[in-house]
Amino acid sequence: MSIISGFSKFDRNQRLEFIEKFSELNKSDILRFNDCLSSYPNQQRLYSEMIENYIGNFPLPIGVVTNMVINDEIFIVPFVTEESSVVAAASKSAKYWSERGGFRARVDSMTKKGQVHFTWNGNPQSIQSLFLQFSNKLLDSCSELTKKMRQRGGGITSILLIDKTKELLNYYQIDVSFETADAMGANFINSCLEKIASVLVNQSELNANGERIEIIMSILSNYTPECKVNCWIECPIENLTGWNNNLTYSEFATKFKQSVEIANLDISRAVTHNKGIFNGIDAVLLATGNDYRATEAGAHAYASRIGQYKGLTTVTLTEKIFKYELEVPLALGTIGGITQIHPMVKNVMAILKYPDAKKLMMIAAASGLANNFAAISSLITTGIQTGHMKMHLSNILNQLNASSQERVLVNSHFADKTVSFTAVDDFIRSIRSEE
Ligand code: MEV
Repeated sequence: MSIISGFSKFDRNQRLEFIEKFSELNKSDILRFNDCLSSYPNQQRLYSEMIENYIGNFPLPIGVVTNMVINDEIFIVPFVTEESSVVAAASKSAKYWSERGGFRARVDSMTKKGQVHFTWNGNPQSIQSLFLQFSNKLLDSCSELTKKMRQRGGGITSILLIDKTKELLNYYQIDVSFETADAMGANFINSCLEKIASVLVNQSELNANGERIEIIMSILSNYTPECKVNCWIECPIENLTGWNNNLTYSEFATKFKQSVEIANLDISRAVTHNKGIFNGIDAVLLATGNDYRATEAGAHAYASRIGQYKGLTTVTLTEKIFKYELEVPLALGTIGGITQIHPMVKNVMAILKYPDAKKLMMIAAASGLANNFAAISSLITTGIQTGHMKMHLSNILNQLNASSQERVLVNSHFADKTVSFTAVDDFIRSIRSEE
């Protein structure tokens, strides 16, 4: 294969022809890229214009978690996920907690930040006094860009000069805080920062004597500790029954607390613990067209804010009350991006009854906590594999091309047995050899 230029100028068929020629795909594999094209021409155009070098649509299942009670409101929460047991686990948890007061959640602030990173080769006092002189000009330069956002209650709320020269030679930041209302606001923030950077350079050129500002970059930060959601569940300890009857309620509460403490002291466990939280959060972010990469990066940084990576949840067990809390930064949006154009996201927003950003942050956090509660509860009782492999059984049957008759036999055989790929494979082979 040779290096190609101009691939993006090809139409979809030409791109597929190229791929067929230079890959291991045959003609019928290539035709599979047509299977998931939308039958609505407008939607199809929309997908094909969403990214560069488009070749087709990539379906993932969407399911719903029912009975999700958050601050006394009941939600049907759409999840997009490829993992078999995620919707089942969150649903079990949501129902369980709906009978114990539901989830509670709070968002205190939605402030986001971005920085202009630059060097200044003059002395620190002169950049400080230049900044004092022209900080209002920097803000004013964004007034056109912030006009609509200000009408929606957002805008720039502060601008600071930060001296970082002790960490890197001549390095400073202009640190800007933003309110972005119901938008995630990445494009808005980046446009304002680039404007501020260009005015910064112009002003310093007018004011300084041979001392120079050199812009390195201007970009929002996906570290959003001020967009924190607190989400918790709480009930009398004696009500912690019914998940599984292996343990008494007080044994369950004690083991649950120990498992969360382990996630707070051991990085190996903390990462997996937080992954279980993101099973729910990411499923909601995908369904609502939010940026899961930004959210994950920010949340994992938050999990290590004291210099050690920890679990994002804490348990308190008083004599009578079990309280389990998730604290996670989630900078989400319900307008902008693809939220109002992607046909499935539009349906998801309607299922959620058009939440504002704050409410969506609480829904995502509750979904994460629901998945995590289910995971821990299974881990400390039956283990995770019983439930997980039961849900995964249909994937195994599909992989083994099981017939409908074989599926019936397998389902009844494994109703009270541990599912594994090898066990199912052996069982199907034994059925087939008897035929
Ligand atoms: C699997 O997707 C998630 C778990 O590993 C989470 C956890 O261990 O807490 C079950």
